[in-house]
Formats: sequence, C-alpha cells, structure tokens
Amino acid sequence: MSFQVDKKGYYGKFGGAFIPEMLYPNVKNLEDNYLKIMESDAFKREFIDLLKNYVGRPSPLYYSKRLSHKYNINLYLKREDLNHTGSHKINNTIGQILMARHLGKKRIIAETGAGQHGVATATVCAREGLECIVFMGATDVARQMPNVEKMQMLGATVVPVQSGNKTLKDATNEAIRDWINHPNETHYIIGSVVGPHPYPDMVARFQSVISEEMRSQLQEQTGSPLPDSIIACVGGGSNAAGAFYHYLDEKSVRLIAVEADGLGLETGETAATIAAGVTGIIHGSKTLLMQTDDGQIIEPYSISAGLDYPGIGPIHANLHDSHRAEFVRATDDEAMDAAFELTQMEGIIPALESAHALAALPKLNFKKGETVVVNLSGRGDKDMEAYRKRLIKNTELSANKPAEKNEAADMWRAEHRIPENKSQSGANEVNGLFVP
Ligand SMILES: Cc1ncc(COP(=O)(O)O)c(C=O)c1O
Repeated sequence: MSFQVDKKGYYGKFGGAFIPEMLYPNVKNLEDNYLKIMESDAFKREFIDLLKNYVGRPSPLYYSKRLSHKYNINLYLKREDLNHTGSHKINNTIGQILMARHLGKKRIIAETGAGQHGVATATVCAREGLECIVFMGATDVARQMPNVEKMQMLGATVVPVQSGNKTLKDATNEAIRDWINHPNETHYIIGSVVGPHPYPDMVARFQSVISEEMRSQLQEQTGSPLPDSIIACVGGGSNAAGAFYHYLDEKSVRLIAVEADGLGLETGETAATIAAGVTGIIHGSKTLLMQTDDGQIIEPYSISAGLDYPGIGPIHANLHDSHRAEFVRATDDEAMDAAFELTQMEGIIPALESAHALAALPKLNFKKGETVVVNLSGRGDKDMEAYRKRLIKNTELSANKPAEKNEAADMWRAEHRIPENKSQSGANEVNGLFVP
C-alpha cells in the first residue's frame, strides 16, 4: 500500500481537486507542470542552494539530554525553529516562489494563521521583488502581532479577515476568493498540505527535506537512519508530512501526529479534526473536517493560531484511515506546560504549535531507551504574549497556595543568602522560577 498521492490526486479516498471553474486553468497548469519543474536541474540547483545559504539548512538534530532522562528515552529535536524566519514554513515558500517564477506569475497571495507562513511568504516575495498579499483572520492578527509587523516591514499587505471566527479557515476562504478574482496573474502560495491537488503533494515534497536530513543525521549520531518514533504537531499537517515523508514506508517507525485539543474534546472547544471530524470537502480537498450534519463547518478552537483549523491535509486523513500513523491530542494547558518544560530544561522557547508535539511525550508509552524525534517546527518569539499571560496566571495561583518545597531553589537561596520567595533582583518565585 502506498501512502503517496496517486495519479488522480488522491491519498486512499481523500484528496482530489474540488474547485470552482474559474480556478480550473490555474490548478490544471500547476498539476501539469509542478513535477517537471521540481525535477529540472535548474530548479533543484537553486532550491538546494537557497535552503543552504538563505534558510540555513540543514537544521540541527539536537540530543535533548535532560528530557531524555526525564522520559527514559533518547530524545532528539529537529530544530526547524532555527531556520530563517523561525519555522519550517520557509522550506515550502522558497519552493513555491521558484515555482511561481517558472509559471510566470507576478502576484502572490497567501493565507496565514500563526503568521509564520505569512512571514515566510512575505520574505521570499521581498527577495524576488513580487507583490505579496497575506490574508489573516482578525483574531490571529491580534494574537500574533509580532508577525504582522514583520510582514508589513517586508512590504506585504496584510488583510485582516472579519468573517467566521476570524482565524485560519476564514483567511483561507478569503485567499481563495481573491484568487478567483485574479486568476491569471496570481500564484496562491498555500501554507500547508491542504487545498486542491497538486498542492498537498507539492508542499509535502518541499517539506520532505526535514526527514531527508533526519535520516542522515540519525545515521551519524545513532548509527541508524531509523528512529523508533517521530512526533509532530498537525494543523494542516505540513511539518508532520515533512517529518514523516521519508519514513512512510518504514513500518518499524512509529509516526505520531498531535492535534490541538483546545479546552478538551468534551467541551466542543477543540481543533482536533481527526478526533472530531467526518469526511467532507474543505478548501478544494476531500478530507476529514469538523462539520455539522447539514455540512456547516464547526468553528475550531485552539490557543495556537497555527493549529486552529477545522480540516487536515488528505495525506493525514489517509494515514489515520490506514492506521499508519497514530493521532493523539494535547490541550492548551498541556501545550503550555510542555512549552515551559522545554524552555526551562533545555533553554529553547518553542512555538505554541510545536509545544503540542512536546506535550505528547508524557502521554505515550515508549520502550525504555528508544529513539524518539520531535519535530520542533518553530520558535516561540511570536507567542511571548501568551507565555507572559501564563507567567502572570502562575504568579496569581502560587500567591494563593503554599509554595511547594523546591530543594534546588532552597540550596541556591542559602548559598546566596536570599530570603524565601525573593530572587536576588527582588523577583517573586513561582514553581522554582523567578518572575518579575
Ligand atoms: C511553528 C508552526 N508549527 C506548526 C504549524 C502548523 O502547520 P502545519 O500543520 O502545516 O505544519 C504552524 C502554522 O502556522 C506553525 O507556525
């Protein structure tokens, strides 16, 4: 059984291209040419050069000693957070901007949730000197402001979308509407493995550099290209598709995708599409999605703008259907805890999206000492406002409960002659961490 797309654009029973007639020539043109272009020597040379010298690839594979110890495994982090612009999204936008040039397109549009895909698109447009319009839900504009400002500085027009619950789905609707109105001159740089065929396959191929590098890095560091498990978060599913790609046919490798569960499946405030979804059509593709019995989209919810999407790429719907991958869920709170754990144990502040992947670690049964790779899809700069709120909440909680015994902090205070609950700078202590 193949987990790749078939000639008709399907992964098992999912995929296809369900598009309005106006877009047919664009999508057909892309379908007819994308593989020829991607496989040409000129394209490959430029793509590989830009990934190396502009993005900074290969991204490191980092052995996390302290978390390995905590979870009794050998844990490696694939550091997509260290890419130029701060996430895996740039792998795809570099590929698609070259594709747009080969197709002769002069105007670029994109949707964005967390703003990482918007920034990555605005970046490659600045480099290529092309007009760039990014659609972003108004809720996401407010919660990911650092990325909005970056896009504007890069010269992109950011259009806040006011429909629906003003998040990623609504931004994608608006981008498709714009594309229908300007089909001739526009290339739509879709940011995930979603949309009509051939987008899911094209984006997965661009992101497959992640697992291609993982194989040689694991070979070098562990003596085998194969880990026991790979964990990645899924919104539309592009970082997970990239991390799984070169392992899809390696049945010994456990593939684990983590969905955003918001406040929890039972509350209905969730973005866990695999858990809460049924088969339907969204944004040009047949896949699993959250919808009512009469076909209305159910508004998703997650604290993470990049995972707050009611659908999922057809490749993942099929990986679930065929039982090739496992899908687990992580709530807002679990992701927050995981983000603080990584920050305080490894000195790496992850994106809230990536924190969902980390949040799966305590939920899964691993064999002692097995090799686990977590795809750290992005860095947390854009999420500092959410993290700051959590710090304040922790402070308030700890003010109302007796402090837990923290022997390391007590020893440190004794050594530095600092009274209890005060740091050297006078900051308060919360869970062994000093906050202003
Ligand atoms: C850092 C990061 N990780 C993950 C995602 C989710 O997207 P995907 O599922 O396509 O990887 C996003 C989306 O914005 C993101 O910014």
